[in-house]
Amino acid sequence: MKEPFLWGVATSAFQLEGSPHADWASWDSILTQAPQVTHHYDLYKKDLQLLKELGVNAYRFSIEWSRIQPHESQWNEEAVTHYQEIIDILKANDIEPIVTIHHFTHPLWFIRKYPWHTKASVEKFLFFAEKLLASIKNVRYWITFNEPYVLVLGGYLEGCMPPGLRDVSLAVTALQNILTCHGKAYDAIHARDPGAMVSVAHNMAALAPWKRWNPLDRLLARIAKYFYNHSLLDAFLTGHLQVRFPFGRTYHISVPVKNKLDFFGVNYYTRIHIRFNPLKKMGVELRHHDIEGYGLTDMGWEIHPHGLEKVLRYASKLNLPIIITENGIATRNDRKKIRFMKGHIDVLERCIKNGMDVRGFFYWSLIDNYEWLRGLDARFGLYRVDFSSLERIPTKAALYYSYLIKSRRF
Ligand code: FCB
Repeated sequence: MKEPFLWGVATSAFQLEGSPHADWASWDSILTQAPQVTHHYDLYKKDLQLLKELGVNAYRFSIEWSRIQPHESQWNEEAVTHYQEIIDILKANDIEPIVTIHHFTHPLWFIRKYPWHTKASVEKFLFFAEKLLASIKNVRYWITFNEPYVLVLGGYLEGCMPPGLRDVSLAVTALQNILTCHGKAYDAIHARDPGAMVSVAHNMAALAPWKRWNPLDRLLARIAKYFYNHSLLDAFLTGHLQVRFPFGRTYHISVPVKNKLDFFGVNYYTRIHIRFNPLKKMGVELRHHDIEGYGLTDMGWEIHPHGLEKVLRYASKLNLPIIITENGIATRNDRKKIRFMKGHIDVLERCIKNGMDVRGFFYWSLIDNYEWLRGLDARFGLYRVDFSSLERIPTKAALYYSYLIKSRRF
């Protein structure tokens, strides 16, 4: 029997509930004013009710490592039980859990003593992941890492995410260690459950030259497109990763991830235009441009539904089922949110009709939450959060999403 299309919403633990021992808790001063963000850790039952209200049949959420291992020598069973309870509630309501093991945050002790460019990082992460897997029951879909490239670009090139470094060769080592962890976690999950469905969630973007007539812009867009969208796909196909930065050396590294995927998770949000600018880092300048009149989001990102088709086409070369693990918009304007959603789901429908094997769509996000570089102002939620009363208020987009799900176009 054909399995039903997964219609869901996506969240991450830290963005909804904060965590006192996470690296991000002290990284961003805004979190000292709202350390528990939406108080989801306490209000989770109410929030899971919203899933029923929406009528989704799947929910992607993450487990906050720093709640389970607040200190290196500590293992907090209570936190494990908490996340298992979320899974149990989902299962009792016929909602398929998709569990992300690592969604950007780390325990502070990990990022201080064993950041990703150190050899010990692999062993420390795997200790956590394997012990977690020994406890958690009834999960078929796993995401090992959310957006490994964003993690490395933010943490090791831009320095805007912990550990806040700017070093190309450390970035490459960090990426190699993270992908090694994916490969080993993949095996550990399959050793326990041969039928498990495991992937990463890869952030993919439509990338285009700023000026088409400019050969340097075109060259940079090509390099960026290969690195950002394709190099990880090739790593899963071959076990080799080629990392080429503009005007720099090309790294060839081996990564033990060949065929270690059961589906492919794609996070898609926007198109980025690229141009050569000698005054910028690596000679590259990025910008968002409202070309088609859909406007920009409150993140300043271009709304570009057609780009979804492009990235799905790229991902199709893996010959695996694809799940859109994130797609969404930050705006306070409900009409704009609905238009965004309709635009992307229309494209998705066309892709499926044209034979692409897409099995699920997860709107980011269920409720407003903490956005990494934007704090509490980026309103991605289908439910608006009043951060002082903690009330969750449905937007019109929530009603629209329910309607889309019910109309079961695929
Ligand atoms: C993605 C992240 C997610 C969220 C959205 C807006 O890159 O995976 O946590 O912040 O962007």
